[in-house]
Amino acid sequence: MVKRNACVFISGSGSNLKELLKSSREYNFPVNIAYIVSNTKRAKGLKLAKLHKIPFRVLDLNKIINLESILKELDKRKISLICLAGYMKILNKKFINKFNKKIINIHPSLLPKYKGLDTFKRVLDGNEKLTGCTVHYVSKKLDSGKIILKKKIFIESSDDAKTLKTKVQAKEYRAYSESIINIFR
Ligand code: GAR
Repeated sequence: MVKRNACVFISGSGSNLKELLKSSREYNFPVNIAYIVSNTKRAKGLKLAKLHKIPFRVLDLNKIINLESILKELDKRKISLICLAGYMKILNKKFINKFNKKIINIHPSLLPKYKGLDTFKRVLDGNEKLTGCTVHYVSKKLDSGKIILKKKIFIESSDDAKTLKTKVQAKEYRAYSESIINIFR
């Protein structure tokens, strides 16, 4: 199978990246992770890039970033999908406009509910009985693009933000890979 090249954007531990890397090694999975971008050199997920010898770039968002240079880099690497996987910065609107391929994101709630940050605490404060994760296309409005897939979990009275995170993330790993399979089906 000829695989398309994907780029994964991260900010933190990279557990979604790890699962995507696992999936990408499967023969029938439609993408290969060819490039990794992080907004911080402290992202633990960068260890995976080094371990798997995947080229990566750290963006210094305090400096003015040359969008054209990033776009050129993605073009050079024939990237046809960007996956935001725990990328905690808002993507530049011009970048979204100019990258004329697909950009998708995974969010730890059942969108359109609980967009933004601090999701697990807000879900618990909202006395929800159900939560989950959503994979969606990235649009210029935060966490609002077209939904590709959602997976649900039940919230138990004993759950706190930590247990909820573990349960939701376990769903995320399947949801992200399944979404990518659906996109290229
Ligand atoms: C994931 O749970 C993802 O849904 C969330 O960050 C976590 C990253 O974990 N993303 C957002 O909250 C985006 N608004 P990871 O670095 O271990 O994949």
